[in-house]
Amino acid sequence: MIDFKIFPFFNTLPSREIEKLKKLCRFKKYTSGTIIMREKEALNELIFVVEGQLTVTKTHREHKNTLFSLDPGDTYGEVEILNGTPALATLIGYQEFQVMYMPKDVFLRFIGLYPGFAKESRDIYTRRAFQLLEEGLSKTQSGKVITFFNVKGGAGKSVIAANAAVMLARYWKKKVVLLDMNLAFGDQGILLGLPQDKHIHKLVDERPPLKLSHIENQLTTHSSGLKVLLSPPLPELAETIKPLLVEQIVEILRANYDFVIIDTHNQLSDLELKILEISDMIMLMMTMELTFIKNTKLLLDLLQRLKIPRDKVKVVLNRAFKSMGLEPAKVEKSLRYAISHFIPSEGNIVVPSVNKGAPFVLSKSSENTDILMAMKKLCATLTGEEFEKGTWNMFSLLKEVFGLN
Ligand SMILES: Nc1ncnc2c1ncn2[C@@H]1O[C@H](COP(=O)(O)OP(=O)(O)O)[C@@H](O)[C@H]1O
Ligand SMILES: [Mg+2]
Repeated sequence: MIDFKIFPFFNTLPSREIEKLKKLCRFKKYTSGTIIMREKEALNELIFVVEGQLTVTKTHREHKNTLFSLDPGDTYGEVEILNGTPALATLIGYQEFQVMYMPKDVFLRFIGLYPGFAKESRDIYTRRAFQLLEEGLSKTQSGKVITFFNVKGGAGKSVIAANAAVMLARYWKKKVVLLDMNLAFGDQGILLGLPQDKHIHKLVDERPPLKLSHIENQLTTHSSGLKVLLSPPLPELAETIKPLLVEQIVEILRANYDFVIIDTHNQLSDLELKILEISDMIMLMMTMELTFIKNTKLLLDLLQRLKIPRDKVKVVLNRAFKSMGLEPAKVEKSLRYAISHFIPSEGNIVVPSVNKGAPFVLSKSSENTDILMAMKKLCATLTGEEFEKGTWNMFSLLKEVFGLN
Protein backbone atom coordinates (compact mmCIF):
# COMPACT_ATOMS: atom_id res chain seq x y z
CA MET A 1 0.00 0.00 0.00
CA ILE A 2 1.29 3.48 -0.74
CA ASP A 3 2.34 5.85 1.96
CA PHE A 4 -0.17 8.69 1.83
CA LYS A 5 2.09 10.83 3.95
CA ILE A 6 4.27 11.60 0.93
CA PHE A 7 1.51 13.91 -0.31
CA PRO A 8 1.42 17.17 1.68
CA PHE A 9 -2.25 17.30 0.74
CA PHE A 10 -3.21 14.38 2.89
CA ASN A 11 -1.75 15.81 6.08
CA THR A 12 -4.68 18.20 5.94
CA LEU A 13 -7.32 15.44 5.99
CA PRO A 14 -8.66 13.45 8.95
CA SER A 15 -7.50 9.82 9.00
CA ARG A 16 -11.00 8.41 8.41
CA GLU A 17 -11.09 10.22 5.04
CA ILE A 18 -7.70 8.77 4.14
CA GLU A 19 -8.96 5.26 4.92
CA LYS A 20 -11.96 5.82 2.62
CA LEU A 21 -9.71 7.28 -0.07
CA LYS A 22 -7.89 4.01 -0.53
CA LYS A 23 -11.13 2.58 -1.88
CA LEU A 24 -12.18 5.62 -3.90
CA CYS A 25 -8.95 6.10 -5.82
CA ARG A 26 -7.50 3.89 -8.51
CA PHE A 27 -3.83 3.01 -8.91
CA LYS A 28 -1.99 2.20 -12.09
CA LYS A 29 1.55 1.18 -12.99
CA TYR A 30 3.09 2.13 -16.33
CA THR A 31 6.20 1.34 -18.33
CA SER A 32 8.75 3.97 -19.31
CA GLY A 33 7.67 6.32 -22.09
CA THR A 34 3.89 5.97 -21.56
CA ILE A 35 1.78 9.07 -22.17
CA ILE A 36 -0.94 9.04 -19.53
CA MET A 37 -2.67 12.25 -20.57
CA ARG A 38 -2.69 14.29 -23.78
CA GLU A 39 -3.43 17.96 -24.24
CA LYS A 40 -7.15 18.62 -24.86
CA GLU A 41 -8.31 15.25 -23.51
CA ALA A 42 -10.97 15.30 -20.81
CA LEU A 43 -9.45 15.26 -17.33
CA ASN A 44 -11.83 13.86 -14.74
CA GLU A 45 -9.39 12.81 -12.07
CA LEU A 46 -6.64 14.44 -10.07
CA ILE A 47 -3.31 12.74 -10.72
CA PHE A 48 -0.88 11.82 -7.92
CA VAL A 49 2.61 10.58 -8.68
CA VAL A 50 3.43 7.59 -6.47
CA GLU A 51 6.62 6.30 -8.11
CA GLY A 52 8.87 7.45 -10.96
CA GLN A 53 9.01 10.78 -12.72
CA LEU A 54 6.73 12.47 -15.24
CA THR A 55 7.22 15.52 -17.41
CA VAL A 56 4.52 18.02 -18.27
CA THR A 57 4.76 19.35 -21.82
CA LYS A 58 2.66 21.86 -23.69
CA THR A 59 2.56 22.76 -27.36
CA HIS A 60 2.72 26.46 -28.06
CA ARG A 61 2.90 27.78 -31.63
CA GLU A 62 3.75 24.28 -32.79
CA HIS A 63 6.68 24.16 -30.42
CA LYS A 64 6.73 21.62 -27.63
CA ASN A 65 7.84 23.02 -24.27
CA THR A 66 8.51 21.05 -21.12
CA LEU A 67 6.96 23.11 -18.34
CA PHE A 68 7.98 21.16 -15.27
CA SER A 69 8.51 17.65 -14.00
CA LEU A 70 6.54 15.74 -11.40
CA ASP A 71 8.21 13.59 -8.76
CA PRO A 72 6.63 11.22 -6.23
CA GLY A 73 4.44 13.30 -3.95
CA ASP A 74 3.52 15.78 -6.72
CA THR A 75 0.04 16.20 -8.14
CA TYR A 76 -1.41 17.33 -11.47
CA GLY A 77 -4.83 18.48 -12.61
CA GLU A 78 -5.83 21.20 -10.12
CA VAL A 79 -5.91 23.92 -12.80
CA GLU A 80 -8.04 21.93 -15.24
CA ILE A 81 -10.50 20.68 -12.62
CA LEU A 82 -10.94 24.07 -10.96
CA ASN A 83 -11.16 25.88 -14.31
CA GLY A 84 -13.40 23.25 -15.88
CA THR A 85 -11.12 22.82 -18.91
CA PRO A 86 -9.78 19.74 -20.67
CA ALA A 87 -6.11 18.83 -20.14
CA LEU A 88 -3.84 21.82 -20.72
CA ALA A 89 -0.70 19.70 -21.09
CA THR A 90 0.62 16.27 -21.99
CA LEU A 91 2.00 14.01 -19.26
CA ILE A 92 4.65 11.44 -20.05
CA GLY A 93 6.43 9.18 -17.61
CA TYR A 94 10.00 7.98 -17.59
CA GLN A 95 11.26 4.75 -16.08
CA GLU A 96 8.63 2.54 -14.50
CA PHE A 97 6.10 4.75 -12.80
CA GLN A 98 2.96 4.52 -10.72
CA VAL A 99 0.09 6.95 -10.52
CA MET A 100 -2.93 7.32 -8.27
CA TYR A 101 -6.12 8.85 -9.66
CA MET A 102 -8.60 10.66 -7.42
CA PRO A 103 -12.08 11.26 -8.92
CA LYS A 104 -12.88 14.92 -9.56
CA ASP A 105 -15.95 14.93 -7.30
CA VAL A 106 -13.93 13.58 -4.35
CA PHE A 107 -11.34 16.32 -4.90
CA LEU A 108 -14.01 19.04 -5.05
CA ARG A 109 -15.75 17.64 -1.96
CA PHE A 110 -12.50 17.81 0.03
CA ILE A 111 -11.97 21.42 -1.05
CA GLY A 112 -15.45 22.26 0.23
CA LEU A 113 -15.01 20.42 3.52
CA TYR A 114 -11.40 20.98 4.58
CA PRO A 115 -9.85 24.48 4.57
CA GLY A 116 -6.27 23.08 4.79
CA PHE A 117 -6.84 20.96 1.71
CA ALA A 118 -8.45 23.90 -0.08
CA LYS A 119 -5.43 26.07 0.69
CA GLU A 120 -2.92 23.50 -0.64
CA SER A 121 -5.00 23.21 -3.82
CA ARG A 122 -5.24 26.97 -4.24
CA ASP A 123 -1.47 27.41 -3.76
CA ILE A 124 -0.70 24.89 -6.49
CA TYR A 125 -3.39 26.38 -8.72
CA THR A 126 -1.93 29.87 -8.40
CA ARG A 127 1.57 28.72 -9.29
CA ARG A 128 0.58 26.50 -12.16
CA ALA A 129 -2.23 28.47 -13.79
CA PHE A 130 0.20 31.04 -15.17
CA GLN A 131 2.37 28.36 -16.77
CA LEU A 132 -0.46 26.25 -18.08
CA LEU A 133 -2.94 28.75 -19.44
CA GLU A 134 -2.22 30.07 -22.92
CA GLU A 135 -1.88 33.71 -21.84
CA GLY A 136 1.01 32.80 -19.60
CA LEU A 137 3.04 31.40 -22.45
CA SER A 138 2.61 34.34 -24.79
CA LYS A 139 3.86 36.89 -22.25
CA THR A 140 7.57 37.56 -22.26
CA GLN A 141 8.89 35.19 -19.67
CA SER A 142 11.45 36.31 -17.16
CA GLY A 143 14.63 34.39 -16.47
CA LYS A 144 14.79 31.41 -14.17
CA VAL A 145 16.50 31.72 -10.80
CA ILE A 146 18.21 28.43 -9.87
CA THR A 147 19.85 28.06 -6.47
CA PHE A 148 22.30 25.34 -5.44
CA PHE A 149 21.87 24.78 -1.73
CA ASN A 150 22.56 22.68 1.35
CA VAL A 151 23.62 23.56 4.88
CA LYS A 152 26.55 21.16 4.76
CA GLY A 153 29.76 21.86 2.87
CA GLY A 154 31.35 19.52 0.34
CA ALA A 155 28.17 18.59 -1.52
CA GLY A 156 29.50 20.15 -4.69
CA LYS A 157 27.25 23.21 -4.71
CA SER A 158 29.98 25.51 -6.01
CA VAL A 159 31.53 23.10 -8.52
CA ILE A 160 28.21 21.98 -9.98
CA ALA A 161 26.72 25.51 -10.03
CA ALA A 162 29.79 26.78 -11.92
CA ASN A 163 29.78 23.94 -14.44
CA ALA A 164 26.02 24.09 -15.03
CA ALA A 165 26.22 27.85 -15.57
CA VAL A 166 29.10 27.51 -18.02
CA MET A 167 27.32 24.74 -19.88
CA LEU A 168 24.10 26.74 -20.29
CA ALA A 169 26.11 29.70 -21.58
CA ARG A 170 28.41 27.80 -23.93
CA TYR A 171 26.33 24.89 -25.25
CA TRP A 172 22.79 26.22 -24.93
CA LYS A 173 23.87 29.78 -25.85
CA LYS A 174 21.77 31.15 -23.02
CA LYS A 175 22.29 34.50 -21.34
CA VAL A 176 23.48 33.35 -17.93
CA VAL A 177 24.68 35.13 -14.81
CA LEU A 178 26.17 33.33 -11.80
CA LEU A 179 26.03 34.93 -8.35
CA ASP A 180 28.52 33.84 -5.71
CA MET A 181 26.51 34.21 -2.52
CA ASN A 182 29.12 32.48 -0.38
CA LEU A 183 29.90 36.04 0.63
CA ALA A 184 32.75 35.47 3.08
CA PHE A 185 34.60 32.65 1.33
CA GLY A 186 33.31 32.52 -2.24
CA ASP A 187 35.04 30.01 -4.52
CA GLN A 188 33.73 31.06 -7.93
CA GLY A 189 36.68 33.33 -8.75
CA ILE A 190 39.04 30.38 -8.32
CA LEU A 191 36.78 27.75 -9.88
CA LEU A 192 36.38 29.81 -13.03
CA GLY A 193 39.88 31.30 -13.06
CA LEU A 194 38.61 34.90 -13.04
CA PRO A 195 40.26 38.21 -12.10
CA GLN A 196 38.71 39.39 -8.84
CA ASP A 197 38.71 43.17 -9.18
CA LYS A 198 34.95 43.44 -9.73
CA HIS A 199 32.57 42.14 -7.06
CA ILE A 200 29.26 42.65 -5.26
CA HIS A 201 30.68 44.84 -2.51
CA LYS A 202 31.15 47.64 -5.05
CA LEU A 203 27.34 47.82 -5.30
CA VAL A 204 26.83 48.55 -1.62
CA ASP A 205 27.44 52.28 -1.92
CA GLU A 206 25.73 52.71 -5.28
CA ARG A 207 23.20 55.51 -5.09
CA PRO A 208 19.66 54.06 -5.27
CA PRO A 209 17.73 53.11 -7.27
CA LEU A 210 19.99 50.25 -8.29
CA LYS A 211 20.14 49.88 -12.08
CA LEU A 212 21.08 47.06 -14.43
CA SER A 213 24.05 49.11 -15.68
CA HIS A 214 25.45 49.39 -12.12
CA ILE A 215 25.28 45.62 -11.69
CA GLU A 216 26.68 44.89 -15.15
CA ASN A 217 29.67 47.12 -14.40
CA GLN A 218 30.56 44.68 -11.62
CA LEU A 219 30.09 41.47 -13.61
CA THR A 220 33.15 39.53 -14.72
CA THR A 221 32.93 37.71 -18.07
CA HIS A 222 34.12 34.11 -18.39
CA SER A 223 35.43 32.84 -21.76
CA SER A 224 32.23 30.77 -22.14
CA GLY A 225 30.16 33.97 -22.20
CA LEU A 226 28.92 33.43 -18.65
CA LYS A 227 28.75 36.58 -16.47
CA VAL A 228 29.71 36.27 -12.81
CA LEU A 229 29.02 38.48 -9.81
CA LEU A 230 31.86 37.61 -7.44
CA SER A 231 31.79 37.78 -3.64
CA PRO A 232 33.71 40.52 -1.75
CA PRO A 233 37.52 40.14 -1.65
CA LEU A 234 37.67 40.13 2.17
CA PRO A 235 35.59 37.93 4.51
CA GLU A 236 34.80 40.83 6.85
CA LEU A 237 32.94 42.63 4.04
CA ALA A 238 30.34 39.84 3.83
CA GLU A 239 28.10 41.38 6.46
CA THR A 240 27.77 44.63 4.49
CA ILE A 241 25.74 42.75 1.87
CA LYS A 242 22.12 42.77 3.06
CA PRO A 243 19.37 40.41 1.88
CA LEU A 244 17.45 43.38 0.44
CA LEU A 245 20.36 44.29 -1.85
CA VAL A 246 20.64 40.68 -3.03
CA GLU A 247 16.90 40.57 -3.69
CA GLN A 248 17.10 43.74 -5.80
CA ILE A 249 20.06 42.39 -7.75
CA VAL A 250 18.28 39.10 -8.46
CA GLU A 251 15.06 40.81 -9.55
CA ILE A 252 16.90 43.12 -11.95
CA LEU A 253 19.02 40.32 -13.38
CA ARG A 254 16.11 37.88 -13.79
CA ALA A 255 14.35 40.44 -16.00
CA ASN A 256 17.40 40.64 -18.26
CA TYR A 257 18.94 37.16 -18.34
CA ASP A 258 17.68 33.68 -19.22
CA PHE A 259 19.21 32.16 -16.08
CA VAL A 260 20.36 33.51 -12.75
CA ILE A 261 22.36 30.73 -11.08
CA ILE A 262 23.09 31.16 -7.37
CA ASP A 263 25.83 29.45 -5.37
CA THR A 264 25.25 29.65 -1.61
CA HIS A 265 27.09 29.32 1.67
CA ASN A 266 26.55 26.33 4.02
CA GLN A 267 24.10 28.03 6.33
CA LEU A 268 20.50 29.12 6.68
CA SER A 269 20.44 32.78 7.67
CA ASP A 270 18.11 35.57 6.52
CA LEU A 271 20.07 35.85 3.28
CA GLU A 272 19.63 32.18 2.34
CA LEU A 273 15.95 32.29 3.34
CA LYS A 274 15.40 35.26 1.04
CA ILE A 275 17.28 33.53 -1.78
CA LEU A 276 15.24 30.33 -1.37
CA GLU A 277 12.01 32.34 -1.38
CA ILE A 278 12.79 34.15 -4.64
CA SER A 279 14.27 31.14 -6.46
CA ASP A 280 12.28 29.34 -9.12
CA MET A 281 14.15 26.13 -8.45
CA ILE A 282 16.26 24.89 -5.54
CA MET A 283 18.82 22.21 -6.32
CA LEU A 284 19.33 20.56 -2.95
CA MET A 285 22.78 19.03 -3.27
CA MET A 286 23.78 16.00 -1.24
CA THR A 287 26.14 13.05 -1.23
CA MET A 288 25.27 9.55 -0.12
CA GLU A 289 26.38 9.84 3.49
CA LEU A 290 24.13 9.42 6.48
CA THR A 291 25.06 12.85 7.83
CA PHE A 292 24.02 14.45 4.54
CA ILE A 293 20.82 12.46 4.37
CA LYS A 294 19.87 13.47 7.90
CA ASN A 295 20.51 17.16 7.24
CA THR A 296 18.78 17.06 3.87
CA LYS A 297 15.72 15.47 5.43
CA LEU A 298 15.59 18.14 8.13
CA LEU A 299 15.95 20.80 5.45
CA LEU A 300 13.19 19.34 3.26
CA ASP A 301 10.86 19.28 6.26
CA LEU A 302 11.79 22.86 7.08
CA LEU A 303 11.21 24.00 3.49
CA GLN A 304 7.77 22.44 3.69
CA ARG A 305 7.01 24.31 6.93
CA LEU A 306 8.23 27.51 5.27
CA LYS A 307 5.64 26.84 2.55
CA ILE A 308 8.27 26.61 -0.16
CA PRO A 309 6.41 24.77 -2.93
CA ARG A 310 7.40 21.14 -3.13
CA ASP A 311 7.91 21.08 -6.88
CA LYS A 312 10.43 23.94 -6.63
CA VAL A 313 12.86 21.66 -4.79
CA LYS A 314 14.96 19.05 -6.59
CA VAL A 315 17.25 16.66 -4.75
CA VAL A 316 20.58 16.17 -6.52
CA LEU A 317 22.82 13.30 -5.49
CA ASN A 318 26.42 14.22 -6.24
CA ARG A 319 29.52 12.06 -6.06
CA ALA A 320 27.48 8.93 -6.68
CA PHE A 321 29.27 5.62 -7.22
CA LYS A 322 28.42 1.99 -7.33
CA SER A 323 28.87 0.71 -3.81
CA MET A 324 27.73 3.58 -1.65
CA GLY A 325 26.51 1.32 1.13
CA LEU A 326 23.08 2.94 1.06
CA GLU A 327 20.33 2.25 -1.41
CA PRO A 328 19.04 5.30 -3.27
CA ALA A 329 15.49 3.92 -3.26
CA LYS A 330 15.55 3.71 0.53
CA VAL A 331 17.00 7.19 0.78
CA GLU A 332 14.22 8.50 -1.46
CA LYS A 333 11.69 6.85 0.80
CA SER A 334 13.20 8.29 3.94
CA LEU A 335 13.44 11.78 2.41
CA ARG A 336 9.96 11.38 0.92
CA TYR A 337 11.50 12.91 -2.17
CA ALA A 338 12.71 11.51 -5.45
CA ILE A 339 16.36 12.00 -6.32
CA SER A 340 16.00 14.05 -9.50
CA HIS A 341 19.61 13.93 -10.64
CA PHE A 342 22.58 11.62 -10.13
CA ILE A 343 26.04 13.08 -10.72
CA PRO A 344 28.77 10.45 -10.63
CA SER A 345 31.93 10.79 -8.59
CA GLU A 346 34.84 11.52 -10.92
CA GLY A 347 37.68 12.81 -8.80
CA ASN A 348 40.18 12.45 -11.65
CA ILE A 349 38.17 14.89 -13.75
CA VAL A 350 36.77 17.27 -11.12
CA VAL A 351 39.79 17.81 -8.87
CA PRO A 352 42.27 18.83 -11.62
CA SER A 353 39.64 21.13 -13.12
CA VAL A 354 39.17 22.85 -9.72
CA ASN A 355 42.92 23.24 -9.36
CA LYS A 356 43.31 24.67 -12.86
CA GLY A 357 40.37 27.04 -12.52
CA ALA A 358 38.89 25.51 -15.67
CA PRO A 359 35.34 24.06 -15.56
CA PHE A 360 35.40 20.35 -16.36
CA VAL A 361 32.45 20.57 -18.77
CA LEU A 362 34.76 22.43 -21.17
CA SER A 363 37.78 20.17 -20.71
CA LYS A 364 38.90 17.46 -23.12
CA SER A 365 39.22 14.97 -20.26
CA SER A 366 35.46 14.96 -19.65
CA GLU A 367 34.50 14.11 -23.26
CA ASN A 368 32.17 11.08 -23.41
CA THR A 369 32.21 10.61 -19.64
CA ASP A 370 29.23 9.84 -17.40
CA ILE A 371 29.71 13.06 -15.45
CA LEU A 372 29.40 15.13 -18.64
CA MET A 373 26.22 13.24 -19.59
CA ALA A 374 24.81 13.83 -16.13
CA MET A 375 25.55 17.56 -16.39
CA LYS A 376 23.89 17.69 -19.83
CA LYS A 377 20.80 16.05 -18.47
CA LEU A 378 20.69 18.45 -15.55
CA CYS A 379 21.00 21.45 -17.90
CA ALA A 380 18.41 20.00 -20.29
CA THR A 381 15.87 19.90 -17.48
CA LEU A 382 16.75 23.47 -16.49
CA THR A 383 16.12 24.71 -20.02
CA GLY A 384 12.80 22.84 -20.09
CA GLU A 385 13.95 21.27 -23.33
CA GLU A 386 12.41 17.96 -24.17
CA PHE A 387 14.65 15.18 -22.98
CA GLU A 388 16.65 13.69 -25.74
CA LYS A 389 16.28 9.97 -25.94
CA GLY A 390 20.00 9.57 -25.54
CA THR A 391 20.07 11.58 -22.39
CA TRP A 392 17.33 9.57 -20.80
CA ASN A 393 18.87 6.33 -21.93
CA MET A 394 22.07 7.49 -20.39
CA PHE A 395 20.19 8.29 -17.25
CA SER A 396 18.83 4.79 -16.97
CA LEU A 397 22.25 3.48 -17.89
CA LEU A 398 23.75 5.52 -15.09
CA LYS A 399 21.19 4.02 -12.77
CA GLU A 400 22.08 0.58 -14.01
CA VAL A 401 25.81 1.17 -13.65
CA PHE A 402 25.24 2.24 -10.08
CA GLY A 403 22.88 -0.63 -9.44
CA LEU A 404 20.14 1.83 -8.59
CA ASN A 405 17.19 0.01 -10.12
N1 LIG B 1 31.07 14.71 -8.84
C1 LIG B 1 32.21 14.89 -8.18
N2 LIG B 1 33.21 13.97 -8.28
C2 LIG B 1 34.35 14.12 -7.59
N3 LIG B 1 34.63 15.14 -6.78
C3 LIG B 1 33.70 16.10 -6.64
C4 LIG B 1 32.45 16.03 -7.33
N4 LIG B 1 31.72 17.12 -6.99
C5 LIG B 1 32.48 17.83 -6.13
N5 LIG B 1 33.67 17.24 -5.91
C6 LIG B 1 34.75 17.68 -5.03
O1 LIG B 1 34.18 18.10 -3.82
C7 LIG B 1 34.76 19.29 -3.38
C8 LIG B 1 33.72 20.15 -2.71
O2 LIG B 1 32.86 20.69 -3.67
P1 LIG B 1 32.28 22.15 -3.51
O3 LIG B 1 31.59 22.49 -4.78
O4 LIG B 1 33.31 23.10 -3.04
O5 LIG B 1 31.19 21.89 -2.36
P2 LIG B 1 30.28 22.95 -1.60
O6 LIG B 1 30.29 24.21 -2.40
O7 LIG B 1 28.93 22.31 -1.53
O8 LIG B 1 30.85 23.10 -0.24
C9 LIG B 1 35.33 19.95 -4.62
O9 LIG B 1 36.53 20.59 -4.36
C10 LIG B 1 35.53 18.84 -5.62
O10 LIG B 1 36.89 18.48 -5.67
MG1 LIG C 1 30.86 26.16 -1.91
